[in-house]
Amino acid sequence: MRKPMMAGNWKMNKTVPEALSLTRQIYELVGDCTGVEQVLCPPFVCLHAVKALTADMPFSLGAQNCHWQESGAYTGEISPTMLRGLSDYVLIGHSERRQYFGETDETVNKKMRAALAHELIPIVCVGESLEQNERGETRAVISEQVWAALDRLSAKQVQSLVIAYEPIWAIGTGRAATAEMAGEICGLVRAILREMHGDPVGDRIRILYGGSAKPSNIREIMGQPEIDGALIGGAAIVAGSYAEMVKITAEVYGV
Ligand code: 13P
Repeated sequence: MRKPMMAGNWKMNKTVPEALSLTRQIYELVGDCTGVEQVLCPPFVCLHAVKALTADMPFSLGAQNCHWQESGAYTGEISPTMLRGLSDYVLIGHSERRQYFGETDETVNKKMRAALAHELIPIVCVGESLEQNERGETRAVISEQVWAALDRLSAKQVQSLVIAYEPIWAIGTGRAATAEMAGEICGLVRAILREMHGDPVGDRIRILYGGSAKPSNIREIMGQPEIDGALIGGAAIVAGSYAEMVKITAEVYGV
């Protein structure tokens, strides 16, 4: 069985003291829910402090982005070398990065390869826009993004990945995809992975849903056989909501 994952993308929220306080609250509420992998993705400046605080807590950490170069004249950027040992995971190709910071399928692929070379596990994000969805292009768009993101990766590299399906129109809007629809697209992603690298690889990879995931819809989302977890934005920076989602997931999985 794939271990369910609740990943909290804190986005550009929380100062260092606030991040520490949120982490402590989450620990108090669901520090014992070890059957669900809890991944906290605070802003870069909070990573070090959260890492120190969570040394004896059952949390994984994720960064929200990284550059593809190891070092150099890239003002304001953070390299995978800097994240090595500090973070377990790194979000790559989040739609906000694609939308506001010019990330393309090509740079996403470069970042994937750089992250893997530095022992960071990418959580690669894919998702269609509202227009694409309304034009019936969802499957084609997702397929193209997955193939491009995983281009030239070996089966060994691919089998460690996490993939998050986040329809752009569902992010921060309160309007989540229906569980069935999310499940169908996550199933498509898994079919692509199987086609790329065979069934054992496809069966092993965790696929998350993201986009207005919250306590009221997480049970239905996690009930979908192809969905292994959620990438949570707004509800992840409220300890009570995040904890509730972790507990519901533990219940659904019986862990
Ligand atoms: P919301 O949960 O706020 O819709 O954000 C989803 C997201 O973008 C997580 O990466």
